[in-house]
Amino acid sequence: MVSEPPDVPWPHLRALARDATRRSYAPYSNVLVGAAALTSAGNFVVGSNIENASFGLTLCAECSLVSDLIRHGGGRLRALAVVAGDGEPLAPCGRCRQVLFEHAGPALEIDQGEGHDALTLGELLPHAFGPDDLPTRSTR
Ligand code: THU
Repeated sequence: MVSEPPDVPWPHLRALARDATRRSYAPYSNVLVGAAALTSAGNFVVGSNIENASFGLTLCAECSLVSDLIRHGGGRLRALAVVAGDGEPLAPCGRCRQVLFEHAGPALEIDQGEGHDALTLGELLPHAFGPDDLPTRSTR
């Protein structure tokens, strides 16, 4: 018998992401961002954005979430919610799409808010370059 994975608990993921905005450090932009994800193993990981006086060094909430994932033993991300301080979905930036791809692949489901179907990372980052490309593209 093959058992299906349980449905993604989107309301819980959104609540975790909204809660994570309370731990955002964003004194420069005042854009609070919180992220929460469900792993394939059924665990939850979270992250908040961490800004820096040297603006380009800012860490996005998704980067902080990946740090939480690795810190808790790693695994694969299955579903993700990212929200701003107003509690509404925020689109992962381009860099974060690539960072997420490493730990999820194209099937990662990304929340678009209540009443909307999730999009996949493959839709947000088509034709991605990833770990599988390294061995086949090495020429030395
Ligand atoms: N930000 C994130 O945390 N994630 C994104 O995907 C987009 C942008 C943060 C970075 C910065 O602290 C603030 O939002 C404004 O750019």
